[in-house]
Amino acid sequence: MNVNRHGWTRRSFLMGSAATAAGLGIFGATRALASPRPLRAYAADKGILFGSSISGQVLKDSLYADLFTSQCAITVPEGSLKWDTLRPTPYRYDFSGGDWLYGMCKSHEILMRGHTLVWEGALPKWFAATANAENARTMMLDHISTVVRHYAGKVPSWDVVNEAVQIEDGRPDGLKITPWLRMVGPEYIETAFQAAHEADPHATLVYNENWLEPEGAGAERKRNAVLTMLTRMKKNNVPVHGLGIQSHVYAEMNITGGGFKRFLQQVSDLGLSIMITEMDVREKNAPGDIAIRDRLIASQYYKYLSFMLQFPAVKTVITWGLSDRYTWIATHNPRLDAMPVRPLPYDAELRPTPVWDAIRSAFEETRRR
Ligand code: XIL
Repeated sequence: MNVNRHGWTRRSFLMGSAATAAGLGIFGATRALASPRPLRAYAADKGILFGSSISGQVLKDSLYADLFTSQCAITVPEGSLKWDTLRPTPYRYDFSGGDWLYGMCKSHEILMRGHTLVWEGALPKWFAATANAENARTMMLDHISTVVRHYAGKVPSWDVVNEAVQIEDGRPDGLKITPWLRMVGPEYIETAFQAAHEADPHATLVYNENWLEPEGAGAERKRNAVLTMLTRMKKNNVPVHGLGIQSHVYAEMNITGGGFKRFLQQVSDLGLSIMITEMDVREKNAPGDIAIRDRLIASQYYKYLSFMLQFPAVKTVITWGLSDRYTWIATHNPRLDAMPVRPLPYDAELRPTPVWDAIRSAFEETRRR
């Protein structure tokens, strides 16, 4: 099969377009038949960085690697920079996976951002038995300083703290009750940002959060808690530079409502950049028919991205994976009918789906940054 440098055959690209033309409304044949420029180029036209997450393992799939390197201007490792990978024991750091990915990205001129320095997820097995109220702060600081220094000048931005707010946990400040909160105290967030800044004063430091989009009281309280926290950090000169919005959304959900819009404006007004850090679309409740399903998923991408890109503070768009061949949704959010999921711009055969057209349209239609 003759795969060009963009990672798809001319034929398969046209087939993808035919599927699009077969009834997918706004993502019609004319657009899809245009020259096969990569998404990164459509994004770059508008001063936006486009990319997707990666793991070292999937880059062994050479067709996938070709696609990835042609489409992406930026990436983020899905697991290589998490605690459980970097910290095989309490005393040793293993940068081999992250360094390999970094080298690969550098040789293809792809920026690699870092995810994630402080999170309750992906903690190593030894953590629970080793960390306690006496040593947790030092452990956290040692980790941040070692990891951020290791990549200083290389990794341009870090998710310093991930998913720290959870209203259901019942605290007045909305903070999630995690080992970090329990052992270090609520100031762990500001402390982490200070430490990351000391380790690399040039890195863009991001607070990354999920589930900020829905309308309704729960999400509104979450947005308020995040906004209050970010406002306080800015007021106290804590080096926070951006808000990462994970953007794991559902196909059928209203995620472009007034509450979220107000929130994005308020975050922009704080002078923070806003990044779409992990976008994919869950389709558990969507019909099985692939043409109908793709239309739903693609329109959700289009709606969401067009909405988000109204804000000039949004300059980075990262999807959580590039092709349905490798997606965490397959295991973490499978369809009830067990049909393969289709949450990303390329299908499992590495053919562009209507999602690809949706992303391109959103880039084409936004203003230049
Ligand atoms: C996910 C990975 O993609 C999976 O492979 C892993 O099993 C669990 O974590 N929010 C985050 C990411 O910030 O780190 C998560 O990544 C997805 C949800």
